Amino acid sequence: MSNFINDIYNKIEVLSPLHAKKLKKNIAEFDDLYYERANNFMLKYNKYLKTNNKTIDYAIDCYLKMIADVTTETIEFIYTDKYTSSTFDEVNKRVYANPETMEYYMHGLLLSQFLWKHHYQIYDYYINTLPKYSDKVTNYLEIGAGHGLYLSKALEILDKNTVFSVVDISQTSIDLAKNFIEDSRINFNLSNIFDFKKENCYDFISMGEVLEHVEDPLKLLLKLNSLLTVDGTVFITTPTNAPAIDHIFLFRNVKEIQELITQSGFEISSEKYFLSEDVSPEKAEKHKISIMYGAFLKKSKN
Ligand SMILES: C[S@@+](CC[C@H](N)C(=O)[O-])C[C@H]1O[C@@H](n2cnc3c(N)ncnc32)[C@H](O)[C@@H]1O
Repeated sequence: MSNFINDIYNKIEVLSPLHAKKLKKNIAEFDDLYYERANNFMLKYNKYLKTNNKTIDYAIDCYLKMIADVTTETIEFIYTDKYTSSTFDEVNKRVYANPETMEYYMHGLLLSQFLWKHHYQIYDYYINTLPKYSDKVTNYLEIGAGHGLYLSKALEILDKNTVFSVVDISQTSIDLAKNFIEDSRINFNLSNIFDFKKENCYDFISMGEVLEHVEDPLKLLLKLNSLLTVDGTVFITTPTNAPAIDHIFLFRNVKEIQELITQSGFEISSEKYFLSEDVSPEKAEKHKISIMYGAFLKKSKN
């Protein structure tokens, strides 16, 4: 087992034994490739932490704060059957424009990519599929890159002459991604995606976990369609039944997401979904247990 990852689990076990128990169950199922990737990630992340006078204890503290938020939001969700925020203005004030919250949230989310089974599985789907597009992509756009993990892999996988752009509404996310990745090839744009004016079209657009952050996800997918070249590809991820401090739009099942994709003029080239708990998809939908959905899309020919 990777020393770094082992170290993180052991530290979480001291601070939150119950949560660590759940995580331990996850890692028991991971393969050697997971440990290799987690190790490579931790080498890079530790470098970032050191340069920014932070430690892994800081990152674990951020992760546990995020878990506390998720627990509170989940309790509310169980009682009300709604997410606690319903407008963009609310979450912008509460999260994106609040550096203190955004900072711990993004570090927490970054660690979750290797600590949560369904987060690692969707990341694995992305980096296993992206090479298929490597010789077709010249202009890559990532919307809501957040911590920058997916973007860092796209920079490794795609051609070195690819032009990379990012749009994110949060300065905290942009600062974190910039410092974590350290690659001068990326054009960062601080903007709401709905206000982003295209200078040209993109042949690959990646948008992980943003669809549930907007009031009108159909309008967002239509915006993506307008930014995409005729033969371009979009990668999206979004969860069902996933209460969080910045989630607005509640997808209740995978079918709702698929229907929205079709309505917005896309067709699905490939798709996968992963359960956040060890239950069947039917049970997950019935008991409102989160499912992470991901898909590669192209423009519909109709
Ligand atoms: C949950 S994080 C996702 C991070 C990463 N893409 C992932 O999949 O783990 C959402 C990111 O989207 C950004 N975001 C949310 N709404 C946005 C909007 N309307 N326009 C641009 N960025 C937005 C947030 O600032 C944040 O960095």
